Amino acid sequence: ETATKGGYEHFMYKEIHEQPGALRRTIHGRLNPLNGGVELEAFPPGTFADVEQIHLVAMGTSHHAGMYAASLMAARGIPAFPFMAGEYAVTVPPVTPGTLVVAVSQSGETADTLDAVRRARAAGARTLAVTNVVGSSITRECDAELLIRAGPEIGVAATKTFSSQVTALTLLTERLAEDVTGSKSGDAHDIVDALSRLPGDVQEVLDTATASAIAAEYQDSDAYFFIGRGIAHPVALEGALKFKEISYEHAEGFAASELKHGPLALVTPLTPVFAIFTGEEDEATLSNVKEVQARGAPVVAITGDTDGEISEFADHVLAIPETHPDVAGVLANVQLQLVAYHAAKLLDRPIDKPRNLAKCVTVE
Ligand code: G6P
Repeated sequence: ETATKGGYEHFMYKEIHEQPGALRRTIHGRLNPLNGGVELEAFPPGTFADVEQIHLVAMGTSHHAGMYAASLMAARGIPAFPFMAGEYAVTVPPVTPGTLVVAVSQSGETADTLDAVRRARAAGARTLAVTNVVGSSITRECDAELLIRAGPEIGVAATKTFSSQVTALTLLTERLAEDVTGSKSGDAHDIVDALSRLPGDVQEVLDTATASAIAAEYQDSDAYFFIGRGIAHPVALEGALKFKEISYEHAEGFAASELKHGPLALVTPLTPVFAIFTGEEDEATLSNVKEVQARGAPVVAITGDTDGEISEFADHVLAIPETHPDVAGVLANVQLQLVAYHAAKLLDRPIDKPRNLAKCVTVE
């Protein structure tokens, strides 16, 4: 076991550090910086010309990647809706032959996700698997597959596969935008550029991380909250999921807009709030930051704006390199992976095998 951890104390920490390499594989041969295009081997231009709407079905971390992608797609004019696969399987929303169901699953074996795919197919939808595992059940159940190529992930808490899922789904989004709306998204060049820089940007986060000091400073808190808007919302949910899975501390993620509608009642000086800024809707999230600070909560901002207003108001900043807002969520998530890891390590938790959880849930 020691050998395969490659000198790291935990698989999770190793896998966090493998992200630059994983992302290089995810994008390899799929970007054309010259024309701002995305080239997906199995999906030549026109493949998705008759797609009318997208349903993204997944569980856990993969569901957060699905939510992230749905935001990207909707912003490009593609009707796209994320579903928790377990719920989708219970109440299949109306599908037509123009519905593309994108099933996101690291393992390709999650029972709820497989069930959702079967039901969608039975209702007449086209299906596409986004997975890490070649030959997995989901690739057999779906009409087509897009591999994320992150490499094997052993830690129960998914890390590098989330980054690779979001990146592969961003590629898919650009491909879909061209086919469904008839033209490349206005930002295609910038996105392709940001994706090509992403492995290096993640490396920069890993090299300069101050997450362990943040984890230490707030280790005696009552609860940990994570907030964000747009794509930062699923990143907030993922940050909280990672934190609770491996530290066993109470952690919750919220849409920043939701705060006033309940969660604010939980906010005290002993509930640090991690606020995720991607460069889009930052002003509104900053006003939420001021609201929680007025209740005494310490605020950790995850942002690329390290010398502006956000840093002025935040108690601490976890910096990310400046990039396109659609890609910034991946970098913010790496910071949150590190916070969760260090918090769990301080508590001496069995990080790679948290109690009661499994890497792959093959029962409903
Ligand atoms: C379990 C794992 C999670 C994972 C989820 C979905 O809950 O512990 O890390 O996100 O299953 O798994 P999948 O393989 O479908 O992505």
